[in-house]
Amino acid sequence: MNERPHQGRRKCTLPVPYPEPKVVAPNAFYAQLLLEDYAGMVSEETAIHQYLFHHYYFEDELSEMVECISIVEMKHQDLLAETIQLLGVAPEYRTLSNNFPTYWNASYVYYGTDVCDRLAADIAAEQEAICTYRQHQEIIMDPHIRELLERIIMDEEHHLKLFEQAISRYCPGWGGVNE
Ligand SMILES: [Fe+2]
Ligand SMILES: [Fe+2]
Repeated sequence: MNERPHQGRRKCTLPVPYPEPKVVAPNAFYAQLLLEDYAGMVSEETAIHQYLFHHYYFEDELSEMVECISIVEMKHQDLLAETIQLLGVAPEYRTLSNNFPTYWNASYVYYGTDVCDRLAADIAAEQEAICTYRQHQEIIMDPHIRELLERIIMDEEHHLKLFEQAISRYCPGWGGVNE
């Protein structure tokens, strides 16, 4: 059924090691920012579940690719969890705006109806993730965290490219996503 069973998996990772999670000092404000990347509306938690859900609907190579990307997002989430803990905050699946917890919610996932609107949503998710990581990188002065975010951004840019290639392959004529 699948001619190239490992094609998706091979393509989704970058051969660049992740930095060890480290912080200069505990910092509740930095933890608050990272919690948004970790379990906010546009977050690793949302990406993991969205890509896994799309994996149930996609077929063959594309299905394997989104599952593989989802596993990379789990790695990001794990690295963020360790960093948030080092910053002195419990990495529960919630954001903390003004110390008020908003727990992650499955309605954050874009479930979609077909391959094209799902891929378009996955492209948007990666674009928004890159944008938020860049904003947080500007604010966070801790060099260890900045380095970690830089490495995560590399993956997100790679994912964006993969999703863009997929949409042009599976949805020719699907307009507007790259403009
Ligand atoms: Fe990620
Ligand atoms: Fe990603």
